Amino acid sequence: MTSNSEFELIAPEASSVVESMRSIGYNLETALSDIIDNSISAQAAEIKINFHWDNNNSYIRIEDNGIGMSKMELTQAMKIGSKNPLAQRESKDLGRFGMGLKTAAFSQCRRLTVKSRRYSGCSNTRCWDLDTIRKTGKWTLLTNTKDEKSSVNLSEFSYKSAGTIVLLERLDRVISLPYSSRKYNAFLSKIDKVEKHLRMVFHRYLSGPNSINIIINNHPIEAWDPYLLKQDATQELLEEPFQDEDQVVKVAAYILPHHSKVSEEVYKNAEGPKGWNGQQGFYIYRNKRLLVAGSWLGLFKKEEPYKLARVMVDITSNSDFNWQIDIKKSVARPPNKILQELKRIGNLARQASYRVFYHRGTKIIGSGSNTIKESHLWEQVYRHGKSFYKLNKSHPLLLKLIEDTSVDERILYTYLSLVEENLPINLVPYQPSKENNVEVNKKKIINDDEKARVLRGLSDFIYTMRQLNYTEEDILFKLRNSEPYKHYPELIDARLDE
Ligand SMILES: Nc1ncnc2c1ncn2[C@@H]1O[C@H](COP(=O)(O)OP(=O)(O)OP(=O)(O)O)[C@@H](O)[C@H]1O
Ligand SMILES: [Mg+2]
Repeated sequence: MTSNSEFELIAPEASSVVESMRSIGYNLETALSDIIDNSISAQAAEIKINFHWDNNNSYIRIEDNGIGMSKMELTQAMKIGSKNPLAQRESKDLGRFGMGLKTAAFSQCRRLTVKSRRYSGCSNTRCWDLDTIRKTGKWTLLTNTKDEKSSVNLSEFSYKSAGTIVLLERLDRVISLPYSSRKYNAFLSKIDKVEKHLRMVFHRYLSGPNSINIIINNHPIEAWDPYLLKQDATQELLEEPFQDEDQVVKVAAYILPHHSKVSEEVYKNAEGPKGWNGQQGFYIYRNKRLLVAGSWLGLFKKEEPYKLARVMVDITSNSDFNWQIDIKKSVARPPNKILQELKRIGNLARQASYRVFYHRGTKIIGSGSNTIKESHLWEQVYRHGKSFYKLNKSHPLLLKLIEDTSVDERILYTYLSLVEENLPINLVPYQPSKENNVEVNKKKIINDDEKARVLRGLSDFIYTMRQLNYTEEDILFKLRNSEPYKHYPELIDARLDE
């Protein structure tokens, strides 16, 4: 088609376009994740990433054993906008925009070479060199890289049949130019960051049946599990699929254990790349690939008591436009209706985190003979998306009762089940958790009647604890942490002194 009086054909200015594409906002971690998405979409079982340091000739090479590309497919893949974002994608395809390979690569380097083959034998290579594009002012896709250093860096396929190698050279945006041996440590710490990020973003691909291998500089990386699923003390709060137009959104909220319930090593590892506080919130996965890792989506603030709440949200690539997925695959904005659902679930998860954070669950304090088990009367249990209360059957007083009483244990448990089932929950005033409240030690103003009632309760409490052979120190600790006595520290001291 040529221009006529009704329109003009204007092609984009090649060099300006590619230079602008460099500033979409990737960093090295998100860029490599986008390139790995392509390998996973191409059914790779293994992906090798090599970071090679050689000052200005440093490069990053990513090789996979996926289905590879024919010559035509490769040329098409190198095109800016190689696929229409509106096209229907296969259910396991992690792509959408036909841009990622190029935008991710250009964000980090000035030279992108891709070598691919469908079968063992004949392979094809194509290369975008930003300096060549600048010089020619045209979309000059290089087809011959034989004389270049890149062919050495590309080297041979390490897998027997099909596969693809992506080579990033002239890494001017990984660390600032010029490279020098002084910057080697900065390069190493970038690799470290990449590893942490990939362990998180692809954790559901790196573990479980049909898992894939990602190998960084000959060292296979392990999945980072944000939910500590192997820990008994992790609570799963909800599993509530709900409808987003014709798509299903799956949600499962996890409350991570209090740090006293896991080893130092487990606790440290669970903090993740952004640290404990930074990692709280929703985790949004698109086809099991993590897009958003810990965000309250503008619904709540990130605060210490809520850091144990991590909520898994699963969508498919059919929701891409509804959820405003971006090219980098690092943003997802749920539609309003879904956001309201997430707010409700997020709230429940945060309240549960708050309780665990402030030891509202059972907690072991101290060690050896001083160890006491602090217990609570009621436990909140979640099942099939519903929450209800059960009596804590390990409460020391109940254990003592069972030990001492001649009543048949089954009768006692039947009675307790009746109490649980008939708890007049609707009449119990609901107390939403306050954003910044730690009212634990707040002093209450009380009248004489109330004072007498608290003192009576205190006497009984102290008597019972002494019968159970608690030390005075333990009793004091327990009172200072139990409702309602913790609100009356001066009455506790007075009663204990008597
Ligand atoms: N490692 C690979 N193995 C096989 N084919 C690949 C590989 N990398 C890219 N391709 C092909 O190149 C195409 C373009 O990749 P690119 O990342 O630019 O876009 P996309 O994956 O289609 O969408 P998005 O922009 O959302 O990533 C892919 O759709 C795929 O067909
Ligand atoms: Mg892609």
